[in-house]
Amino acid sequence: MNLELAGKVALVTGGTSGIGLAIAQRLGEEGCVVAICGRDADKLARALAQLRAGSIVAHGFLADVAQPAHMERLAGEVAAAAGGIDIVVSNAGTHVKGTLEQVTTAELEKQLRTKVLGPWELARQVAPLMRQRGGGRFIMIIGQAGKVPGAGIIASAVSNAAQHAFVKSLSDHLGRSNILVNAVCPSRISSPLADRLDLTGEVYLGRSLEQQEARWGAQVPMGRFGVPKDIANAVVFLASARASFICGANIDVDGGYQRSIL
Ligand SMILES: NC(=O)c1ccc[n+]([C@@H]2O[C@H](COP(=O)([O-])OP(=O)(O)OC[C@H]3O[C@@H](n4cnc5c(N)ncnc54)[C@H](OP(=O)(O)O)[C@@H]3O)[C@@H](O)[C@H]2O)c1
Repeated sequence: MNLELAGKVALVTGGTSGIGLAIAQRLGEEGCVVAICGRDADKLARALAQLRAGSIVAHGFLADVAQPAHMERLAGEVAAAAGGIDIVVSNAGTHVKGTLEQVTTAELEKQLRTKVLGPWELARQVAPLMRQRGGGRFIMIIGQAGKVPGAGIIASAVSNAAQHAFVKSLSDHLGRSNILVNAVCPSRISSPLADRLDLTGEVYLGRSLEQQEARWGAQVPMGRFGVPKDIANAVVFLASARASFICGANIDVDGGYQRSIL
């Protein structure tokens, strides 16, 4: 299948690790010029070396998505370095676990800045650049806490539900400019984040990380954790010319774990 991605410019926030790096890799393999960003200079350098070792044309930028000024600067720098922007994958962030008593208001605010305000500002900056090129793609990675809230994941549930509202509203607005906005919703993906966090937040129930991981894998119909490339393949399809009438959708990529029909 020809995805018609060769020569497109794709920015992946949080493209220095895990899911984001796999997305940058797959887009690069399809011929995109990729731009990645993160906060850690060493991680950024390692990711760029990995991409370039595969003959991918890659640009790297230090930027914190929680800071709107960084998003404005990032959009300008990517457009200057690569000649424009066709595709944005809004992926940067982390999972915040804990109950109401455990998550401070400052932690929730940081999560909202990272997951909602940053992508908001980035969309404001890149939409005019995409319009200049006749269209584009804005794809958001949204963890499944946004559809299935819970006591131990309350902060991520709040931020991710807001991301769903953002994607749907933005798709309604930008679809008219041939900028297609969609979401990919991972769960149970092995990555540096999943490896270092008790993602289910069930420690408060007395379950160890090992107990949770064993329980999680068994609960997935496909019987395993996913890998970052599973998410990357879905993103590459949504970014491609083959997804030209998909707008405002959110696609679960989770081995069938999510039983919600919404
Ligand atoms: N793994 C899963 O099962 C899973 C499930 C649901 C949702 N997700 C979501 O998928 C996304 C990627 O997760 P992952 O598993 O690949 O995690 P990861 O390996 O920890 O990668 C996170 C990436 O985001 C960057 N990042 C984090 N905060 C940032 C900020 N404020 N500004 C700029 N960059 C930032 C990190 O780089 P720096 O640290 O250098 O900034 C890194 O490149 C996250 O948003 C996560 O919440 C993951």
